[in-house]
Amino acid sequence: MSATAYSTRRFSFAAGHKYWVESWPAAENERVFGRLTVPHGHNYTVDVTVRGPIDERTGMVIDLSELKRIVGETVVDRFDHADLNADALFRNRVPTTENIALVIWDLLAAKLGSERLWQVRVFEDPTLYVDVRAEDAV
Ligand code: NI
Repeated sequence: MSATAYSTRRFSFAAGHKYWVESWPAAENERVFGRLTVPHGHNYTVDVTVRGPIDERTGMVIDLSELKRIVGETVVDRFDHADLNADALFRNRVPTTENIALVIWDLLAAKLGSERLWQVRVFEDPTLYVDVRAEDAV
């Protein structure tokens, strides 16, 4: 009999962005996004949750140092002190908190497997966060 557990580790990075759709005229961007069209930065917090059976031998769902290494190499190293609009992953996607969570989901699912990765929660600031979950991601 093995129980499923959900284990979360928190990461952070600082990055800059603006909300802008290249194919729209400037006036349309300004109408839709307002002040968010001006480049600015955030200190993002990312909570990565993996799920799985508790290994009877180790007592763990995942080796948390392995998770730290994978998220560090895949997400933090890529986005920390980056201009998100300049990253290829945001070429045709506005770097909203929603799309940042989705992009991080895709990067991590490729490394951890979508069975093991349960949720990616991205905080833009302490008052706003977005979740992308395994049950919804296809
Ligand atoms: Ni912003």
